[in-house]
Amino acid sequence: MRQNLVAGNWKMNLTYQEGLALVEEIVRLNAAGTGPEVVVCPPFPFLAGVGEKLPQGGKLHLGAQNCHQKESGAFTGEVAAKMLASVGCEYVILGHSERRQYFGETDELLSQKLKAALAAGLKPIFCVGESLDTREADETFDFIGQQLAAGLFHLSNEEFAQVTVAYEPIWAIGTGRTATSAQAQEVHAFIREQIARAYDAQAALDTTILYGGSANAQNARELFSQPDVDGGLIGGASLKAADFTTIIQSF
Ligand code: PGA
Repeated sequence: MRQNLVAGNWKMNLTYQEGLALVEEIVRLNAAGTGPEVVVCPPFPFLAGVGEKLPQGGKLHLGAQNCHQKESGAFTGEVAAKMLASVGCEYVILGHSERRQYFGETDELLSQKLKAALAAGLKPIFCVGESLDTREADETFDFIGQQLAAGLFHLSNEEFAQVTVAYEPIWAIGTGRTATSAQAQEVHAFIREQIARAYDAQAALDTTILYGGSANAQNARELFSQPDVDGGLIGGASLKAADFTTIIQSF
């Protein structure tokens, strides 16, 4: 059966020292070790240091925000999936809308990145989500169905079992405009249905589906109470240990 999970996407924020202070506080506030799986996703240069602060074998895990699709080579400035694994990363966010929008990441490229991440033993957190135009044109389900089919459903059953899906409506990211719990539930149920079609009913039941987009300490409980919302991918509110902890404790 699927696990609840809360992931903090720090994006391009904080200094190394601030990042260490943040993770120390997150570890302190979550020392009880009960509740959902938690993933912190700091920027690349912080990964090893932040990872050292996380207790081994507990519920707190390390994740990266991106990886390159190739295993190694002459790709100046890029970071390979196995490098991430070698510093203790267990997860990697792929297909975030900011990567798709600002860095031109396509479904085809994301397919390659997924393969690279899985080959390195990382668990991908694969993001999908529609723009405001798409929602207003009433094309949300078509759009997300297409993102799943083109980007994700080429994986084998075994590969897909490693994947967490994140539904992140672009219009809700960093805008303070959260999807209502009903809007989130509707799309999450749709995603689960698509997984059942592409794989099988058990795979659909076993897949963790996160909501992301202005989730915070105030609205997390309502969002997580929905039957198909298994946790959150948290941006802004993951930069404050107390807020992030409230979200973690919102199940
Ligand atoms: P937000 O970001 O919580 O700041 O809206 C979510 C995300 O982009 O993962």
